[in-house]
Amino acid sequence: MKDKIIIFDTTLRDGEQSLQSSLNTQEKIEIALALEKMNVDIIEAGFPISSPGDFKSVQEICKKIKNSTVCSLARCIEKDIKIAAQAMSKLNHFRIHLFLGTSKLHIESKLKKNFQEIQDMAIKSIQLAKKYTDDIEFSCEDAGRTSIDNLCLIVESLIKNGVKTINIPDTVGYTIPNEFSKIISELFKRVPNIDQAIISVHCHNDLGMAVGNSISAIQAGARQIEGTITGIGERAGNAALEEVIMTIKTRQKMLNFFTEIKHKEIYQTSKIISKICNISIPINKAIIGSNAFAHSSGIHQDGVIKNRKNYEIMSPKDIGLKKIKFNLTSRSGRAAVKNRMQEMGYTEKDYNLKKLYKKFLILADKKGQIFDYDLQKLAFIKKYSIKKNTLVLKNISFSSKSVNKTNIYIQVLYNAITHKSKIYTKNGIIYGIYKALKKITKIKFLLKKFKIKSIKKNKKILGKVNIIAKYKNEIFYGNYTSQDIIQASVESIINILNNILKFKQIKKKI
Ligand code: KIV
Ligand code: ZN
Repeated sequence: MKDKIIIFDTTLRDGEQSLQSSLNTQEKIEIALALEKMNVDIIEAGFPISSPGDFKSVQEICKKIKNSTVCSLARCIEKDIKIAAQAMSKLNHFRIHLFLGTSKLHIESKLKKNFQEIQDMAIKSIQLAKKYTDDIEFSCEDAGRTSIDNLCLIVESLIKNGVKTINIPDTVGYTIPNEFSKIISELFKRVPNIDQAIISVHCHNDLGMAVGNSISAIQAGARQIEGTITGIGERAGNAALEEVIMTIKTRQKMLNFFTEIKHKEIYQTSKIISKICNISIPINKAIIGSNAFAHSSGIHQDGVIKNRKNYEIMSPKDIGLKKIKFNLTSRSGRAAVKNRMQEMGYTEKDYNLKKLYKKFLILADKKGQIFDYDLQKLAFIKKYSIKKNTLVLKNISFSSKSVNKTNIYIQVLYNAITHKSKIYTKNGIIYGIYKALKKITKIKFLLKKFKIKSIKKNKKILGKVNIIAKYKNEIFYGNYTSQDIIQASVESIINILNNILKFKQIKKKI
């Protein structure tokens, strides 16, 4: 029989404490609801003593969460425990998560105590917490660097005093998988009452071992894994739960465990968290990165078209991704081009694949990425050349009375005619520029992403703008780099509009 692995999410506590700016109550509720929808077993909602805002957020989260267990962190200090219990008091069942350093380093240099005093503090706190709930988790902070003898001693005494979940954190992400699993198996060997508690792990990622350590720990007997979706958390972060969950699912035959997570919610949840926490997900991030299921080389694309399993160990659908399009670049093979044409509804009788692929490679070398409308044009329009842009920026200037109230004067060449537009905006310059250009071109697109990044080139700091927009169910990309971020923004919008205009011309001809 497979054993269940309990998933404990600390995005709102360990994750939040690592953000550049803290989240407000509404944002935390939104994240908590997404976690609950994913069926997370335990949601660590916060550290109520840390601020009145955090206290209120925990209180509000408790009003909304119905199925997951809500948990709050508390030091082994009377007021922490009372405040944590008070924040969750509206619930019939909640968990208090106590923590205290157990390594020599933490005991002596941080807490200025000895091991006996630590044990006494722990027991006193458990007795107080038990007045509010029978669901107590205790974290032996810095367990990864705690002597195994001391760890066994304290774990035994914590269980004897009624702690239901013992957490073994690798607080500083120092251990490596076989070392960490040894700590867990030693506890199982040496602590006589270990069967009366769930052993949990909480691994940090300082050496990139958090997920590996967590998996090795469940193989040694741990039954709860703590982490965060996307892996955010103190310093290099916590174990990325999406990786943990999908490892348990993908390697279930080997590991023999299961989680009750609705894995089809993973992608959506990661999007919500990345948006609210303002953290971008690296494109190559396992499971949720935009390249995680993308196949680029011709050989791989061909292999996947023949049988996805050739290069996919799990399905993108398992995490809730609907459809994966191959990136069509000059690395793509004939099979990928044929496949994309098929997806657009064309059979090989409609066009000549050999000729299309030849033209595709020439254009892909020039343009970088090929879109559906390029393919259609290459396949069906005899003389193909990339036309000059139909929309060109001639001039732009601004006058503003205050930060939020700006007049934008824009001059563009559109279809060889100069157009001038004056727009007054209260909604920021980017929106104003979009409005002015919409007035001229009559094109209304949906802005999906607008990203400004600073890059250093030849000792200059440049602003690189990347935009993703949606027009008539097609996705368009625009980008531009300049020393002037306003210019980079306008040119990227113009870039998008030129791509849309090309797309419209092609649609008309076909
Ligand atoms: O990393 C850690 O040790 C913690 C504890 C509070 C569990 O975050
Ligand atoms: Zn932590």
